[in-house]
Amino acid sequence: LAIFSDIGEAAIAVLKTPEASAKATIAQEVAALWHKGHLASSTQTPPRRPARPPKPILLQPRDMPKRRKAGTQKNRIALLHAIAHIELNAIDLAFDMIARFTKELPEHQHHEFISDWISVGKDEAKHFTMVESRLQSLGSFYGALGAHDGLWQAAEKTAENFAARLAVVPMVLEARGLDVTPSMIDQLKRHGDNQSAHILHIIYMDEISHVAKGTKWFRYLVKMDKKQEVSYFQELIAEYFKGAPKPPFNEEARQKAGMPISYYQIFQ
Ligand SMILES: [Fe+2]
Repeated sequence: LAIFSDIGEAAIAVLKTPEASAKATIAQEVAALWHKGHLASSTQTPPRRPARPPKPILLQPRDMPKRRKAGTQKNRIALLHAIAHIELNAIDLAFDMIARFTKELPEHQHHEFISDWISVGKDEAKHFTMVESRLQSLGSFYGALGAHDGLWQAAEKTAENFAARLAVVPMVLEARGLDVTPSMIDQLKRHGDNQSAHILHIIYMDEISHVAKGTKWFRYLVKMDKKQEVSYFQELIAEYFKGAPKPPFNEEARQKAGMPISYYQIFQ
């Protein structure tokens, strides 16, 4: 088991672990250490980009092959590979959130903020591990295909702005996952792949709580900075997010995540 003196150091160790399943393992170890109270809260500047394995090769989003329906095993592997890559990014995003932004909150909020993103990071590590093992049972593995770098590009773009990071990553990109996952689950079931459908269902349920945590801390910042929440959110999206959030929106799941329709109805 890895030994760290504080959470900043531990979060950076996750970010600097290149191999994917090793990253998932260390993320879960750090979460266990945090829950046992073995890590002091602290912040340190994380690397601009996390360490990653040599494969998958990272492509521009526009160079990715178009995602196809879940009818063939090849297409299901492509879908699961894309999801594994999202989950790996999501591990890094959770620990980057802790290392980079905790210091911007008043000290009495540090423990709750860190605990929230530790729980997200732990979920993402579980997701990655489930999807990776499903890929292997379908005869593939993470790294077998190309993957796109859009998520980390969004992270770099918002590295200097805490509110923008919350608006773009959990509240737009992860919320997008809530919009598109139910139809993926239906397609997988329709084609008899109940195991993959089950994994996506677990991910879907967990992601509601991740969007909720992002929304909660966004609202906290809004209050702290005395801004108007919906217009501030939309300003940040206009400045930091390429394009606009795409309808149709999953209103029910977004509502469960504490995100009212006023945040995105302008994009409908
Ligand atoms: Fe996830």
